[in-house]
Amino acid sequence: MLGIEWRDELSLGFTVIDEQHKKLIQTMSDLNQAIINKEADKVLTGTFVNLFEYTNKHFALEEQYFEEFGYEDAEAHKAAHAYFVNMINEKFKRIYGDTHELSVELIGFLDLWLVGHIMVMDKKYEECFKKNGVK
Ligand SMILES: [Fe+2]
Ligand SMILES: [Fe+2]
Repeated sequence: MLGIEWRDELSLGFTVIDEQHKKLIQTMSDLNQAIINKEADKVLTGTFVNLFEYTNKHFALEEQYFEEFGYEDAEAHKAAHAYFVNMINEKFKRIYGDTHELSVELIGFLDLWLVGHIMVMDKKYEECFKKNGVK
């Protein structure tokens, strides 16, 4: 597991972006807790709704900045976002199947992808965003 809880290491120093990342990590953390409590089936739909809602908003914001600032890694980064959305959509299609299996798979994917994405790809735009005055 890379990081089910928020930690300062994940902070990029941008208020809104950090808040959005925190919400995503919180969604992950809630799902993890539900799995431990064997109640994942109760939160799974809500987890997907949160993921769709938060990532939609969050990716749009990052991508809007990429455009505004002519960020050099924009295409690869946007492709990574699109991959994530696609993966979540695919997993959501199985919501009426084995919810335990889906929850465990989802948490594993989120832990690897989301945390990895923040630490590697999002970290890369830190300098560019700072230079362009994002607070
Ligand atoms: Fe991000
Ligand atoms: Fe991103």
